[in-house]
Amino acid sequence: MAEKTLNDLFLETLKDIYHAEKQIYRKLPKMAKNANSEELKNAFLTHRSETEGQIERLEQIFESLGKRAQGKPCEAMKGILEEGEEVIEDFGDSDALDAGLLAAAQTVEHYEISRYGTMKAWAKQLGMKDAEKLLDETLKEEIKTDQILSKLAESAMNPKAAAK
Ligand SMILES: [Fe+2]
Ligand SMILES: [Fe+2]
Repeated sequence: MAEKTLNDLFLETLKDIYHAEKQIYRKLPKMAKNANSEELKNAFLTHRSETEGQIERLEQIFESLGKRAQGKPCEAMKGILEEGEEVIEDFGDSDALDAGLLAAAQTVEHYEISRYGTMKAWAKQLGMKDAEKLLDETLKEEIKTDQILSKLAESAMNPKAAAK
């Protein structure tokens, strides 16, 4: 069996997050469309355009490695997004819908924060300075998005969902 390296692991994980980001990019319009609150709609749409840039950063990293940008099905993200679908189906016409959408979106962000944190550390260890910088830029956007979602959840969503 050929010896695998951290470089191989980095590439495999890059494919995983590339696929995950593309799934998120496709799902965000539906989440925005279903959200009741205008603020939440806007947060989803803003993050969708950020996600476009994040996908481009990943493509730059593939390029720097001399590899074709290629996704590998991310089962974790598929499951997280399926749970988001369930929330829309089960709570679609309730006041608790936004709270459910927020929870699903924060699960997505936490997955991304975990992935980008790990990949940034690996890029550093592998001496991939440009990749490290690109991964850090995305990591910061994911953290910021998570904070925006937390604020929305605290200020408006949860009290409203609890009131009925
Ligand atoms: Fe992302
Ligand atoms: Fe994100």
